Amino acid sequence: MKVPNHIAIILDGNGRWAKAKGMPRGYGHIKGCANLENICDDIKDLGVKYLTVYAFSTENWKRSREEVEGLMKLFRSYLKKCMKSAEKNHMRVKIIGDPSAFAPDIQEKIRELEEFSKDYDELYFQIALNYGSRDEIVRGVRKLAQDVADGKCTPSEIDESLLENYLDTAGVPDPDLLIRTSGEQRLSNFLMWQLAYTEFYFTDVPWPDFHKEDLIKAIEKYNSRDRRFGGVKEE
Ligand code: FPP
Repeated sequence: MKVPNHIAIILDGNGRWAKAKGMPRGYGHIKGCANLENICDDIKDLGVKYLTVYAFSTENWKRSREEVEGLMKLFRSYLKKCMKSAEKNHMRVKIIGDPSAFAPDIQEKIRELEEFSKDYDELYFQIALNYGSRDEIVRGVRKLAQDVADGKCTPSEIDESLLENYLDTAGVPDPDLLIRTSGEQRLSNFLMWQLAYTEFYFTDVPWPDFHKEDLIKAIEKYNSRDRRFGGVKEE
């Protein structure tokens, strides 16, 4: 089985999973968070080199105050625990998105985790927090425009690879496989630039129930497809 180099996952369905069990949405997020820790181990075992997950979008602030506060609490404890996971899996962790909207202590935890894990190179784990693809492109273009204004580059030098350097994912190869759990078939403003040639896999399984066997099923499906990049079949 050929394992994708980079898997991206839209973690969806925590709320519905909890509701189906007669529990509050926050319970679903707690279970979803625990599942993320397990999937990180599985991804590492399978030999995948890059994992990117969509954990909190720029739109998610619109959820109820109670739910947003619960998620912030979860991020605090997860970012702390993630250091152990980084150490165990020799995993470098990078947050993509705009962290400036988070409370100062969360921003500090993000910095600590990124600094702590920066020399690990067996798995590169990107967590999208306060992330939106349009926001990422706007922030990147703003920085690029500033560099043009400062004379660091000229408009004619701007091409795809230069623009990519201004995205949050600079230096990271594009995902080979995107998985979205829980039945929805949308991108929801996730990695729109980076997913241009990615294979998509949608499953009805809600995120808290998505385990290693589901991951393997997604990879098998990916294997059964002919990957084409603008008409050229990948060997
Ligand atoms: C989608 O389920 C999930 C989220 C908006 C939050 C994702 C968070 C986690 C998996 C846990 C925490 C992650 C980290 C990195 C600490 P939903 O609420 O949209 O579910 P629904 O579609 O059923 O309502």
